[in-house]
Amino acid sequence: MSLGKIIHKTNIDLSKRIDKQKVPEHVAIIMDGNGRWATKKGLPRSFGHNKGVSVLKEIIKASKKLGCKVLTVYAFSTENWTRPTKEVDFLINLFSEVLKTEIDEIHQEFIKLKFIGDLTPFPETLKKIIYSSESLTKNNNSFLLNVCVNYGGRQEIVKVARELALKSYSGEIKPNEVNEELFNSELLTQGIKDPELLIRTSGEKRISNFLLWQLAYSEIYISDVLWPDFNEFEFLKAIIDYQSRNRRFGGIESLPKESFEDSQYSS
Ligand code: IPE
Ligand code: IPE
Ligand code: MG
Repeated sequence: MSLGKIIHKTNIDLSKRIDKQKVPEHVAIIMDGNGRWATKKGLPRSFGHNKGVSVLKEIIKASKKLGCKVLTVYAFSTENWTRPTKEVDFLINLFSEVLKTEIDEIHQEFIKLKFIGDLTPFPETLKKIIYSSESLTKNNNSFLLNVCVNYGGRQEIVKVARELALKSYSGEIKPNEVNEELFNSELLTQGIKDPELLIRTSGEKRISNFLLWQLAYSEIYISDVLWPDFNEFEFLKAIIDYQSRNRRFGGIESLPKESFEDSQYSS
């Protein structure tokens, strides 16, 4: 059997263990470890970023096939500007190149593409490609791919606070009308359900300023695999792990309601 067939078979074996009724609708991913992957192989960090793009394509396909509806990926954080100019320029150029070569396939797959973050500092050429890709795919409704670029969770929350302060100042809303729903409506992810699952690759156990508001009750899965080595098999493992979790949201779902009096609390 060829290696390709073996991989295919292992993925099928794993997908058999997935409960189709409990597939997360929205998965968020911190795609981390590109640089370390390349350095380990004695290659420039840029090789890791290039390989990372092909992994992203595989994961988009895998999540769509599984029945997820939304995938939100962290591609460039507000803190990533502190990297050497050469790496930042490489990444900005990579975003343009990937969009140019992939947009037709994305559209053919009925994927809606949305960029989340402050696009202001990016070159006009990249902004143009982003806007035209978003406009081309805006009516696609089989799957939503959010790409977070120049995105920071704190900056997003400050932006919402500023918008609401302005609306309150102008009399459009009253200060005491500010609630979670109104706050949500000003987020960059407005209208999108919060992710049920956050995956971070490369073993780092932090959020790194990603979706601070939206991840309030997401299940977190840390994979030790570096992003360029991540694949459908590792993604399915994350989903299976997610499905084994007991999501209590602060309650005690594992105990039947009547047992409240019957068990621990009766005298
Ligand atoms: C993630 O990989 C990609 C971006 C942040 C753009 P890194 O570039 O952070 O790779 P490591 O963490 O240094 O290995
Ligand atoms: C988070 O990864 C940002 C992206 C994946 C785009 P980083 O590599 O920038 O995060 P830290 O530096 O490990 O916190
Ligand atoms: Mg990193």
